[in-house]
Amino acid sequence: MAAMAHRRYAEIMRDVEELINGHIAHQRAGTQERSKLKLLVPSVGTFFTPLNLEAAFTYQDKQRFISSRRFVPPSFNDIRLILNTAQVIGLVKGGPLNLVTFDGDVTLYDDGESLTPGNPVIPRILGLLRWGTRIGIVTAAGYTDASRYYGRLHGLLEAIRDSKDLTPVQKQNLIVLGGESNYLFKFDIEDPNLLTFVPREEWELEEMKKWTEEDVKELLDVAEVALRDAVKCMQLNALVLRKERAVGIIPAEGHKFAREQLEETVLVTQKILEFSPVGRRLPFCAFNGNYARNETPPHLPLPIPNLYLGGNDVFVDIGDKSWGVLACQRFFGGIEGRKSMHVGDQFLSAGANDFKARLVCTTAWIANPAETVQLLDEIYIHSGR
Ligand code: IMP
Ligand code: MG
Repeated sequence: MAAMAHRRYAEIMRDVEELINGHIAHQRAGTQERSKLKLLVPSVGTFFTPLNLEAAFTYQDKQRFISSRRFVPPSFNDIRLILNTAQVIGLVKGGPLNLVTFDGDVTLYDDGESLTPGNPVIPRILGLLRWGTRIGIVTAAGYTDASRYYGRLHGLLEAIRDSKDLTPVQKQNLIVLGGESNYLFKFDIEDPNLLTFVPREEWELEEMKKWTEEDVKELLDVAEVALRDAVKCMQLNALVLRKERAVGIIPAEGHKFAREQLEETVLVTQKILEFSPVGRRLPFCAFNGNYARNETPPHLPLPIPNLYLGGNDVFVDIGDKSWGVLACQRFFGGIEGRKSMHVGDQFLSAGANDFKARLVCTTAWIANPAETVQLLDEIYIHSGR
């Protein structure tokens, strides 16, 4: 029974793989509007690499025994992990993988925590650096001060400093992009925080030069009014946090927001910004920190344990992670999307800040830091190293 189920599932995977290959052929010819996949899935985006779905299914079936289940069909999580594996295989086949960018909270460490020594992701990231792969940490957490990022990332930064086999050049290959796409820091062994702030003029993209300070202020003003309105309407016990390039609400001490309140606040704020003149001139990202543990948003049919962890805030940031990843690609000399992968936990389209990275590179959707470790191991496994 298991062998038969495996054969059937593998066949379906192969069919989808071929639909994607057909779409990629149309992309190359500039006729993607006419692909069969586009007809079936009108919202489908651009593919940076083929997805080796059949091989990925075979790999994940060995890990998760999907075909051996009689009553529970392939689930949302099964498919998510098969897609991640397919993406990894697609990347290593088209290699080399030149840039891996990571989200912070939930991807590298649990929500609101830090990357401390002993985190199993550290030796894997060091392994990528040893290969010459560039690393970017593209996080919404926005601080102007290197010491705050040192606090959040010190386990990794110290391991790079202390590494005996990384060359000085390889050690330079780590940067942090904070506030989605607002603050760039590069690894610096001489600095007590192991990071140096790189002034915006030195790295900002041509397109970003059009983002004037007046517009930034105006957008944050509109967002702040929208957030305060939501707080008032739903009588939230909230503190409003205004930063140089972001504005957000966090729960007052001893309180917690419900998922519905977080989502309503994000959606209302996003709509108000979209309709405002400044929201059309300036890219922004309105999103909420993750849901409470084990809660499932209403539009997904099955519970997805552990997909949503901790975190309980709403932020509006200037820019978004597509700009953050693009800035990393250009900082390292113009790395192409097909050689670049962003790993993150927020990909559900409403209020999900990693989703935008998909515009400029390949992505992997993980549900917790342990899955990030597994994903990095898969890069090694499928590279045959
Ligand atoms: P990420 O998962 O690394 O992108 O971080 C997202 C979390 O960073 C949010 O849920 C907030 O808890 C936190 N955070 C801290 N400062 C900021 C900010 O300025 N903008 C957005 N999120 C922030
Ligand atoms: Mg995250």
